[in-house]
Amino acid sequence: MNWFTKAFTSSLGRKWVMSLSGLFMCLFLVVHVSGNFQLFKDDAGFAFNSYSVFMIHNPIIKTISYLLYATILIHIIQSLVLTLQNRAARPQGYVHNKPEKSSTWSSRNMGILGSILLVFLVIHFADFWAEYKFGEVKYKNYYTIKYEGENHIFYGKDSAESYYKMYNAESIFIEKLKRKGIDLTNREMMQKLQAENPGLMQQLQMEFTTFSSTYIGPEPIKTEAVKDLYMEVKLAFQQPWYVIFYLISLLALSYHLVHGFQSAWQSIGVHHRKYVPIIKAIGWFFSIAIPAGFAAMPIYFLLDYMKNDGVLDWTRFF
Ligand code: HEM
Repeated sequence: MNWFTKAFTSSLGRKWVMSLSGLFMCLFLVVHVSGNFQLFKDDAGFAFNSYSVFMIHNPIIKTISYLLYATILIHIIQSLVLTLQNRAARPQGYVHNKPEKSSTWSSRNMGILGSILLVFLVIHFADFWAEYKFGEVKYKNYYTIKYEGENHIFYGKDSAESYYKMYNAESIFIEKLKRKGIDLTNREMMQKLQAENPGLMQQLQMEFTTFSSTYIGPEPIKTEAVKDLYMEVKLAFQQPWYVIFYLISLLALSYHLVHGFQSAWQSIGVHHRKYVPIIKAIGWFFSIAIPAGFAAMPIYFLLDYMKNDGVLDWTRFF
């Protein structure tokens, strides 16, 4: 039997496969949660949508993604086989052994926790991954405009144009008046001028309206049409049951990681007295920080929706 067959058929080999696939998925979670932090940027989803384009189309990331899908499947299959094998080999008196005394709750419930995560992943893939690849996610147009040496990104040409009107056209108009000796920011001067000519402000207002309607700002330096995955995420997390489902799944992920992270290192042979406390500490931190980072996303969108007077729809599940 070569090492490859052994890895998938011997009990020890299976544990190695479970551990390595689990640790690879942990690495994925770090990348996924860090990338998703772009959701918190107040830029109408530009950073997140651009990041999604990169993640989905970059050939290296694409290859890693296929490896990830295979890893998820292998992890699930191996866990099922190991559970069945352990059950068959379990001594009759096990029930009376009081396992709760010799093991933790999460280690005894890895199967249940894993099953919750599997349901979560199926729904998660259907709603975001498949929707992006095969669904009808709308495109959003982003315009990049250089203004005062800085790039400003807008979605929709209208908002780009109104930005000109608000900032560019207005500041140019103010400069023009200054050159004519009228400083709108100088209160004393304006009061004096108005006393001499009571219709001055009305006249300036009219001049500004004419000026801004004919004022054409610089053309966008870049125009991009990007699938608006940000909006998909935002809309999904406006549904309270959906958010609750995510939070329950993330709690399951946390418990799954509490046991999984530590036991993975143990299975691949890292159980030296010196390293065990360090792995335990990192494991605890990881198991709390990663699910908490993910949980912040549905909570953020739901609170944002409620803050903007959105009505919670408790009749819809997904
Ligand atoms: C709660 C916050 C989360 C959000 C907002 C989110 C969002 C997304 C989105 C938009 C995609 C599709 C586009 C892409 O590949 O980037 C995706 C893919 C994926 N997500 Fe999540 N996700 C979250 C949590 C999770 C969790 C907790 C897991 C695992 C337990 C997970 C596992 C995956 C996997 C495996 C993919 C496919 C990746 C690929 O195709 O390479 N996600 N997620």
